[in-house]
Amino acid sequence: MTSAMLLLWIALGIVVQLALWLGIVFWRHWQSYQVLQDQVDGKNPTSQTENLQTEAASEGWKGFRAFKVIQKTLEDESGAICSFYLRPEDGQSLPLFKPGQFLTFKLAVPTQSGTEEEIIRCYSLSDSPGHDAYRVSIKRVPTPDGTPHPPGRSSNYFHDYVQVGTSLAVRAPSGHFYIDHDNSPVVLIGGGIGITPMLSMLNWIVAHQPEREVWLFYGVRNNSEVILKSHLQALSDRHPNFKLRICFSAPQPGDLIKRDFHHRGRIDVALLRTELPLKPYNFYICGPTPMMESLVDALEDWGVPDTRIHFEAFGPASIKRKSSIESKVSEEGSAPVMVTFSKSNKQFTWDGKSSSLLEFAEGNGVTVESGCRAGGCGSCETRIQSGEVRFSHSPDFDSEPGNCLLCVCIPVTDVVLEA
Ligand SMILES: Cc1cc2nc3c(=O)[nH]c(=O)nc-3n(C[C@H](O)[C@H](O)[C@H](O)COP(=O)(O)OP(=O)(O)OC[C@H]3O[C@@H](n4cnc5c(N)ncnc54)[C@H](O)[C@@H]3O)c2cc1C
Ligand code: FES
Repeated sequence: MTSAMLLLWIALGIVVQLALWLGIVFWRHWQSYQVLQDQVDGKNPTSQTENLQTEAASEGWKGFRAFKVIQKTLEDESGAICSFYLRPEDGQSLPLFKPGQFLTFKLAVPTQSGTEEEIIRCYSLSDSPGHDAYRVSIKRVPTPDGTPHPPGRSSNYFHDYVQVGTSLAVRAPSGHFYIDHDNSPVVLIGGGIGITPMLSMLNWIVAHQPEREVWLFYGVRNNSEVILKSHLQALSDRHPNFKLRICFSAPQPGDLIKRDFHHRGRIDVALLRTELPLKPYNFYICGPTPMMESLVDALEDWGVPDTRIHFEAFGPASIKRKSSIESKVSEEGSAPVMVTFSKSNKQFTWDGKSSSLLEFAEGNGVTVESGCRAGGCGSCETRIQSGEVRFSHSPDFDSEPGNCLLCVCIPVTDVVLEA
C-alpha cells in the first residue's frame, strides 16, 4: 500500500467517525427535543397528574373575605412600589393559588368631596403559593403628565392609607394567566410592574422544579425601578437553570452594565433571538400594552405557536392576536347586531372588532365598572334584559343567572344590557 493510499484510508476513517459522532449527537438532541415538545403539548402523563393536584389544592372562598395587613415594605429606590402582606382575619388557612393569579380588592377610597367611593381593583400575587401570607406589590399611579386628572385612586390609597393592621375585603385568587406545571423550558418577560406575576411563577419554579430551564427578562428604565434585585440575584446564583436578564431602557449615569443590568434597551424579539437557544419555549408576558403588543406580534412572526404565548394586561387595552383578528374579519359578513345600553340610553351596531362588550361599551363612551378584564373579579357583571351573548372563555367568576360579564362576552343576537 502506497503512503497516499494509507493517508486516504486514515482520512476516510476520520470522516466516518465524525459522521457517526454527529449522527449520535443529532439523535440525542432530537430525542430530548421530542420529550420537551410532548411536555409542552401536555402529553406527559406525570405533568397532567401534577396539574390536577394543584388545581384540587387551590380552592378559594366565595365573595369577599376580611384580610389584615401584617407587613408593608417599600421595594424600590424611588418608593413607587410597595408590597403588602395579608393574612385572613378569621385565622383559617390560606388557600393555595396558581402562580400568576391575582386577588380582587373592594376598597372604600376617600374622595375630594370628603365622602367615600367604592372601587374594585385587581393585584397579582407577587410570591409563590404556600407561604403563611399573601403578598401583592403595588405601584403608585401618578397623574398622567400634562393632564388635570387625579392620580390613581386605588394605588395611592394603598400607599397612603393602608397600614399594618388595616382590614381589606379580598376576593379569592383567580385568573387564567398562570404557569403551566409541566417541565418544558419557559421564558418569563416582565415589564415594569408587570414583574409581579413573573415573581410568583419564578419563585414557584425554582422551589418545585429546580431542574426546569427558566429565563426571566425584566425590563425597567433604570436601577431606581428594579424591585427585589437581591432576591433575583440570589436565585440566579443558586440555580444554574435560572437565567436572569435585566434590561434598562434609560440607564442613569451610575448604572453599570454587568453589575446592575445585562442589556441596554427594551426587551424585543431581536434580544430573545440572540439570547435563547432554539427550544420549544413557553412565553409568559406581562407589562405595558405597547411592549406586549409588539412582543406578541413579533413572537408569532418568529414562528412561536400562539398556544405557547401567554400574556396578561394590567391596563385597559386588550392585546389582539392576529388569529383572532382574522376570525373576526370573517364574521363581518353576517347580519348586523344591535347592542342597547338601557341605563345610558344608547344604542350601537356591534362592530365585530371589539374583543368584548366591555371594550365596545368603553369605545362608545358608556361607563362600565371593570377590574380584571378577564372574567375573574365580577366588577363588570351586568344584567341581560333581552337577547343572547356568548362567553369567549369560561370565566372564574360565577355570575348570577340572567347576568353576563361584559369583559368576556360578545353578543350573539340583538341584546339589551342594563348598563
Ligand atoms: C389582572 C390584573 C393584575 C394587576 N396586578 C397589578 C400589580 O401586581 N401591581 C400593580 O401595581 N398593579 C396591578 N394591576 C393594575 C391595578 O389593578 C390598577 O389598575 C392600578 O393600580 C391603577 O388603579 P388606580 O385605581 O390607582 O388608578 P385609577 O384611578 O383607575 O386611574 C388610572 C389612571 O387614569 C388616570 N385618570 C384619572 N381620571 C381620569 C380621567 N377622567 N380620564 C383619563 N384618565 C384619568 C389616573 O391619573 C391614572 O393615571 C393589575 C391589573 C389587573 C387587571
Ligand atoms: S372586569 Fe373582572 S370580571 Fe369583568
